[in-house]
Amino acid sequence: MGEVDETFIQDPEHRPCLSIIEAEDIPLIDLSPIITSSSSSNPKAIKEVVKQIGSACKEWGFLQVINHGVPVETRHKLDTAVREFFKLPLEEKRKVRRDESKVMGYYDAELTKNVRDWKEVLDFVVKEPTVVPASPYPDDKEVTQWYNQWPEYPPQFREACEEYNEQVVKLGLKLMELIAMSLDLPANRFHGYFEDETSNLRINYYPPCPSPHLALGLGRHKDGGALTVLAQDDVGGLEIKRKTDGEWIRVKPIPHAFVINISNILQTFKVWSNDRYDSVEHRALVNSEKERLSIGLSLNPAHYTLVKPLEELTDEQNPPKFRPYSWGKFMTHRKLTNFKKLNIDNIQI
Ligand code: SIN
Ligand code: FE2
Repeated sequence: MGEVDETFIQDPEHRPCLSIIEAEDIPLIDLSPIITSSSSSNPKAIKEVVKQIGSACKEWGFLQVINHGVPVETRHKLDTAVREFFKLPLEEKRKVRRDESKVMGYYDAELTKNVRDWKEVLDFVVKEPTVVPASPYPDDKEVTQWYNQWPEYPPQFREACEEYNEQVVKLGLKLMELIAMSLDLPANRFHGYFEDETSNLRINYYPPCPSPHLALGLGRHKDGGALTVLAQDDVGGLEIKRKTDGEWIRVKPIPHAFVINISNILQTFKVWSNDRYDSVEHRALVNSEKERLSIGLSLNPAHYTLVKPLEELTDEQNPPKFRPYSWGKFMTHRKLTNFKKLNIDNIQI
């Protein structure tokens, strides 16, 4: 059928259409009024940004931001460290391989919707909580601690991740303020959920693939977490499902921009906003010539968060559309079940 193992081959209806050359412009938002001034100094410009964010969330579920305040050097440092790591021999990379007790680290095999992705991954909860806070909900007993396994090489790897994580979480929280305002809520409405945030840094490396028309780097999915801040390199390959017609469209890489994905598989955001903002499916294509790198930071609430529609957004006319669920329990379950689905030793890239 192709030159890749059949475990990578997508069903015909999910194969990418490689003839799309031109990438589409999703809303591009300049955050300089927020980053360079205090909230009282330029209310008109800030209101305009909030309006743009609100309509992008509603109409696209995706947007790109520029002038976001994350230093170029911070991103560059991580990009360099990560590329060095992925160049290592497989046995070296597997020294920090994900396992059932130390959940976070490297893995070279992952399934999305039961088809293998053409990629390698590094996964960390960078700000590892020292103690998982006790859950106020009695059925949350199995929520576990997550550990990171840091590679020894390159030596600057951990520091680069920590610096990047700190800066990008800060940006994520800023975006949550703007999103709150776009829902006519106070800017600090979501702050409490993130005091003990459990954000997840996921580094995706897509090697060149001999059959990019059959396989995907990352199959169609919605993200977990409140929002994702994604840095993609200049190769391109991210596609999102356009809300208006269900067509897959390519997101144009813009130097130094971040792609923001406001919602996810857990429907955290959808639940909080009681369906005003929806999550959007996306996927990543591979190509036969170039490797591609993307770094996603999923902004996650504290383990003990009970996610449910916000009272302010529900009333008799708009009753809650979602049942409450515990973030920590859900996330633990998801990570462990995903792991168990793979018999990792039998799978090789
Ligand atoms: C993701 O959806 O998590 C990553 C997408 C990409 O690599 O562009
Ligand atoms: Fe994603």
